[in-house]
Amino acid sequence: MSITIDTKHGVIREEEFLGLWSQIQDSEKALKGKTGAGADYLGWLDYPVSYDKGEFQRIEKAASFIRSKCEAFIIIGIGGSYLGSKAMIDALSPFFANERDEVQPKIYFAGQNISGKYHDDLIRLVKDKDVMINVISKSGTTTEPAIAFRLFKNLLEEKYGAEGARDRIYVTTDAKKGALKELAMAQGYETFVIPDDVGGRYSVHTAVGLLPIAVAGFDIKDFMKGAKDQMEETDGAMDMTDPCYRYAAARNILYRKGKTMEIMVNYQPEMAMFSEWWKQLFGESEGKDGKGLFPVSVNNSTDLHSLGQIVQEGRRNMFETILVFDEVDRDTIIPTASEDLDGLDYIAGSGMNHVNNKAFLGTLMAHVDGNVPNLVLTIPELSAYMLGRLVYFFERACGISGYLMGVNPFDQPGVESYKRNMFALLGKPGYEDLARELEGKK
Ligand code: PA5
Repeated sequence: MSITIDTKHGVIREEEFLGLWSQIQDSEKALKGKTGAGADYLGWLDYPVSYDKGEFQRIEKAASFIRSKCEAFIIIGIGGSYLGSKAMIDALSPFFANERDEVQPKIYFAGQNISGKYHDDLIRLVKDKDVMINVISKSGTTTEPAIAFRLFKNLLEEKYGAEGARDRIYVTTDAKKGALKELAMAQGYETFVIPDDVGGRYSVHTAVGLLPIAVAGFDIKDFMKGAKDQMEETDGAMDMTDPCYRYAAARNILYRKGKTMEIMVNYQPEMAMFSEWWKQLFGESEGKDGKGLFPVSVNNSTDLHSLGQIVQEGRRNMFETILVFDEVDRDTIIPTASEDLDGLDYIAGSGMNHVNNKAFLGTLMAHVDGNVPNLVLTIPELSAYMLGRLVYFFERACGISGYLMGVNPFDQPGVESYKRNMFALLGKPGYEDLARELEGKK
């Protein structure tokens, strides 16, 4: 049940892979020995075995309580405190989950944007339901989730009083510090920890991802087992045949040859948010010091009818990484028609998955012919176990790849610039000088 990689359409010679072997080993040594840049943020590396088992049990207990009582579960967070759980829940849930009676509780996200309309609509939708919330913020001060938390805390206190609200608010934040931690302690909310040494985009296997995934009804033991198996597989890797090393190496080889964009491709619509998580992981980790592959994504076959044109014939500065699942759990058979007016009878009786697979193969060959190298990652099945593996696979590859690129893959200094400007424009105390400077630029 391992992830495999096929690089034969990557237009990379085996000598090129072998030429990177010693750099891969150096990157691994720096990760494991905690001697590289950002070494204070390597808690995710052995988290699949070092995680707090007592907290894990508390998460399972809280999730089962929430599932037994709650109709609408609101997950509040942004960036690394949002994308992972949203990606896992979307990937594992049936389509149209919130419209299905058997799906309880309904899951909603808040604080991942600053849209007044979105939050007004969400509050109207859930206000007469039994609501519980999980607010997730490592710093506890991020503007978007802080605004959303105010809104939903008020809603709960109006509905249930301060006492009743207390049992409906779960806080995932720093173990010791921050505004959210202080509030949780003062109010007596149940709290879960985002470890100091785990950055947001590497936190899916912590309480950040685990509580939401468990509340959505998925097996977090399997999810952690997948991560552990992937970690052990990469720990035991001996050469460039290891898929994680090979992926990290391939993207750097292509980058050094002038490819500046990596496109994550999927043919399963439930994986669209997974690509969003992957984009944050690689974009925030590598995009610094004037370097980095720009991570983008397409959802096929939908996007073959839009971005397919630029991939086929646009500027040749991109390569694709395709996620393929060996097994897809259900299918729809294409019916015969009494008159074959649409000319589709030649595939009548076939499953749509068969057509989807041919779309993947046909596209791969067309894009490679159009000078877009393709890497193919094959995942045996779409399950909590395999997603646990896949998340760890990309995290480990990202750490290695960042070191190969010569950047610190664990900080994100660039995301502060917009925040300073926004605070100044909003009139936050302490930002007066910057506000005056920005006035002049308007
Ligand atoms: O990866 C990151 O560090 C960021 O995307 C953060 O997760 C995001 O900014 C949210 O931060 P916080 O959890 O402190 O609210």
